[in-house]
Amino acid sequence: MSDELIELIRARAGDSAPRLGLVLGSGLGHLANEVNGVEIPYSDMPGFPQAGVSGHNPKLVIGELEGVRVAVFGGRAHYYEHGNPAEMRVPLEILRGLGTQELLLTNAAGSLRPDIMPGGLMMLSDHINFAGHNPLIKEPSDTRFVPMTQAHDTTIRQGLARAAAAEDIALPEGVYCWFSGPSFETPAEIRAAKILGADAVGMSTVPEVILARFLGLRVAAVSVITNMGAGMKADEQISHAQTKAMAPLGAAKLERILRRYLRNL
Ligand code: HPA
Repeated sequence: MSDELIELIRARAGDSAPRLGLVLGSGLGHLANEVNGVEIPYSDMPGFPQAGVSGHNPKLVIGELEGVRVAVFGGRAHYYEHGNPAEMRVPLEILRGLGTQELLLTNAAGSLRPDIMPGGLMMLSDHINFAGHNPLIKEPSDTRFVPMTQAHDTTIRQGLARAAAAEDIALPEGVYCWFSGPSFETPAEIRAAKILGADAVGMSTVPEVILARFLGLRVAAVSVITNMGAGMKADEQISHAQTKAMAPLGAAKLERILRRYLRNL
């Protein structure tokens, strides 16, 4: 299935390999509109996972951003939409098939740390697969035993950290804990996640990091913080509307960092 889609994409967007793949999270889909290139709606790609969550921009755009060829997925499918942790395998196989080696995942997340506030960003140093689902279950070969010791790529992280410093934007690193969603966490779950060593919680990204490493893509991820974890702020009502309303604040910072990162390549 991925092979046919790779052919379809090459026929429309050309053969040259994107230098970077980018997956945009909830409320961050706007960035796909910044790329000067060929747009392919997900609905044009048979078998491609449709991103059914509002706040996503369901199209693949391949073109130039800051003079670098990129492939941007304007939205992602989530585990909670279908119950399939491997739902993002096709998009990542497409990236690999196009010859892309580097992947940046983005997401909206709740912060567990008082020094990382809504509107801010957190780069993932590591993650906890608290949802407990794995996209490689049923994968037949020994390649399924993917080492995850340094899953989040040091070189990409250093490049993003340099870009953030140059833009004077705080980009603390922390551990992201995957909850399946779609319900938000309880205050007790947030306290538990803190004890486990998490700095942020969210409903995506972890299966994609596992799949990326399985496919041999170098991967890093950045969270846009839209709220504090459940129960941390007395007057806060966590909701998807809040996620969509708050994400653009962090998205603007993320875009500046990304543009600088690409210029520095
Ligand atoms: N929890 C899980 N996912 C999220 C959150 C949260 O608090 N905020 C945005 N996405």
